[in-house]
Amino acid sequence: MKVLVTGATGHTGRHVVSGLLGQGIDVRVLVRDRAKAPEGVHVVQGDITNPAEAAEGVDAVYLLWPFFTAEGIENAVKPFKDKRIVYLSAMSAEEGGVWGDVEAAVEDVTERWTFLRVTGLATNTLAWAGQARGGVVRAPYGQAKRSLVHERDVADMALAALAEDHAKQTYLVTGPEALAQAEQARLIGEALGKPVRWEEQPTEEAKRQLSAYLGAEFAVSALRHWASLVDEPEPVSLDVARVTGHPARPFDEWAREHFS
Ligand SMILES: NC(=O)c1ccc[n+]([C@@H]2O[C@H](COP(=O)([O-])OP(=O)(O)OC[C@H]3O[C@@H](n4cnc5c(N)ncnc54)[C@H](OP(=O)(O)O)[C@@H]3O)[C@@H](O)[C@H]2O)c1
Repeated sequence: MKVLVTGATGHTGRHVVSGLLGQGIDVRVLVRDRAKAPEGVHVVQGDITNPAEAAEGVDAVYLLWPFFTAEGIENAVKPFKDKRIVYLSAMSAEEGGVWGDVEAAVEDVTERWTFLRVTGLATNTLAWAGQARGGVVRAPYGQAKRSLVHERDVADMALAALAEDHAKQTYLVTGPEALAQAEQARLIGEALGKPVRWEEQPTEEAKRQLSAYLGAEFAVSALRHWASLVDEPEPVSLDVARVTGHPARPFDEWAREHFS
């Protein structure tokens, strides 16, 4: 069996690669910069928007679509026709958007798809790293409760779905509990060995900041989503435990791994 891993230099992909290698599986990676590719794999340099060379001869693909628009997805997935595709998606795919459009394009080229819909990746909180080291995280909606998932759990789900038959399965991939963002910041402080306090950022200020790198439309919908999570926490799913055989890793463990 030969598996193509996209996003192999990223947070989830690097664990997918090491897990596959650990199982003795032949791994190919598609990377933009050959110098950043992991060891022990066949490297194809290129872009995910044009993966034809990388797709040749592989049986399965770990697919990331790291863009805020689905433009170009139909062409990008064509070379994966009839292959097993494990796509790192988002819970919001059920409402459409970029993740919904990518899922639809994947379903159009193969019946052997598995969708890993995450609520949110714990790595999102790395954006607070600099502020946390200074003792204060200033961000909006400290009481928004999120079930952020450890990237190793996403990778474990992907490994199962790449190596076993999980065709036409959509999994909700979450952490083991929904924690307020202010509590996540506090746990990062525990890992750092110093108190970290949450400072509520006015939403207008957050909108301006987020728009700069997410685009205005995405920023507004992200803020609306976080606002809703104050009263209605993100769901917690048992799919990680069901599929991998171990419970999802808690946020404090993630924080210790990344901040201590
Ligand atoms: N953040 C969340 O809460 C959340 C929620 C739901 C879904 N997701 C999905 O998860 C993805 C992030 O996954 P992750 O954390 O494992 O990755 P990551 O750490 O964000 O890294 C992104 C990866 O994609 C690669 N990449 C970027 N642009 C590329 C291109 N044009 N062609 C080929 N490769 C490209 C990067 O390679 P380089 O080394 O070349 O930069 C890197 O390996 C998001 O893009 C999103 O679709 C995220």
